[in-house]
Amino acid sequence: MNPRASGARPIDEKAALLREGQRASGARPIDDRAALLRYAGLEQVLPLGSRLNARGALEVGGCDVTELAREHGTPAYVYAEDDIRARARAYREAFAARTNRFEIIYASKAAPITAVYRLMADEGLSCDVASGGELHLALAGGFAPGRLYLHGNNKTEAELIYAVQRGVGTIVVDSFDEVERLRRLAPGQRVMLRVTPGIKPDTHEKIATGQEDSKFGFGLDDVPRAIAACEAAGLELRGLHAHIGSQIYELSVLERLAEVLGAMGDYPLLNLGGGLGIAYTPEDRPPSVDEYAEALLSRVPDGVTVLCEPGRSLVGNAGVTIYTVGTVKPIPGVRTYVAVDGGMSDNLRPMLYAARYEAQIADRFGGSDLCTVAGMHCESGDILIRDVELDDPRPGDVLVIPATGAYGHSMANNYNAIPRPPVIFCRDGAARVVVRRETYDDLTLRDA
Ligand code: LLP
Repeated sequence: MNPRASGARPIDEKAALLREGQRASGARPIDDRAALLRYAGLEQVLPLGSRLNARGALEVGGCDVTELAREHGTPAYVYAEDDIRARARAYREAFAARTNRFEIIYASKAAPITAVYRLMADEGLSCDVASGGELHLALAGGFAPGRLYLHGNNKTEAELIYAVQRGVGTIVVDSFDEVERLRRLAPGQRVMLRVTPGIKPDTHEKIATGQEDSKFGFGLDDVPRAIAACEAAGLELRGLHAHIGSQIYELSVLERLAEVLGAMGDYPLLNLGGGLGIAYTPEDRPPSVDEYAEALLSRVPDGVTVLCEPGRSLVGNAGVTIYTVGTVKPIPGVRTYVAVDGGMSDNLRPMLYAARYEAQIADRFGGSDLCTVAGMHCESGDILIRDVELDDPRPGDVLVIPATGAYGHSMANNYNAIPRPPVIFCRDGAARVVVRRETYDDLTLRDA
């Protein structure tokens, strides 16, 4: 198959687009067909290489999502595998163009999926795990234990023991209680110190973590005492870590973070966390990976190795969720509810953070019918998108919501005993299920 004809691009070309910002380069990962031009802006929310095929249906990774819906059912998380690889490469290349002292760490809470861990390991990234469960998945995905960073404000003894037994490279220490636990459980362990630098980014308060009033890490005043405690406990302190928040567009706060940590002492490693925001709607304008790398690297002292931990920006735009429309309920003068076969069990973000998404009928992009996309759960708050324009939605239509690749699957739940959706990887027109759909039997599997 000719990759050009399919609209796909070689991964390295995609990586270049991402590094520099798709918009700045003027390139369009989606086919430039006239029908699609009317909806300019969608290319930045959809996976790279997405296009509308001759039938007008969305293709992700060369696969027609309406056919995926027929074959695998809905809801389903659909990822373009090459998109994930391209984003991993974009990060590595953006940093490598500026320094050879860097490490890109996949923050796996964004998509803790064995197949995603495997891709990230294959692309040469390291990995951040925030629990014993994520550690288990990272190992299953083939990560060398030495490349793993274990995080958490309250790692249990069992998790610490598991990490030590498996030889986890670095534990990011979060509290004085944990220093004491590590002294007992992991003498000589290589650690970094999580610092809460008192920097509050402009993001939803539930995903801001750098402010002084935080459950995470050591406040600036406590850092000298924490350093001394690590030394006294016989831990090998390699550097400082901070993560000030998530879905950040404002690079100046990250520059400030780099300056603050850089000024705190002479450490070989500084981990500046994750947090680069992504586009959820065509109106969003996130910084490029190049701009992000420049912001971090321009402010750290010479000779320091910079670590960063992107999660959302590696996988968020690589995935879409497909649903089937079940009911359409117009309330004259009020709104039209378009109900789909998922909702707050597969995407909690609109409910938790008032997160805004885009939607389209998968084979009729465009349209001007103002609709509210509702889920199927027994709760009025189960609204995926308030006010989005669709083309005459009808029962049986496949509806696609882009940019659900991060924190969709990872925060999925079984509210109303709804089985969780499968994860499908698409590449060059071939689809493979990497996590199967839950079944009703899975729901009773743990009954004791
Ligand atoms: N490093 C640490 C220590 C973190 O706590 C996080 C995210 C990251 C890295 C990755 O951040 P990212 O690059 O993905 O922004 N559930 C929320 C996001 C919570 C993020 C928690 N920590 C959401 O759906 O928006």
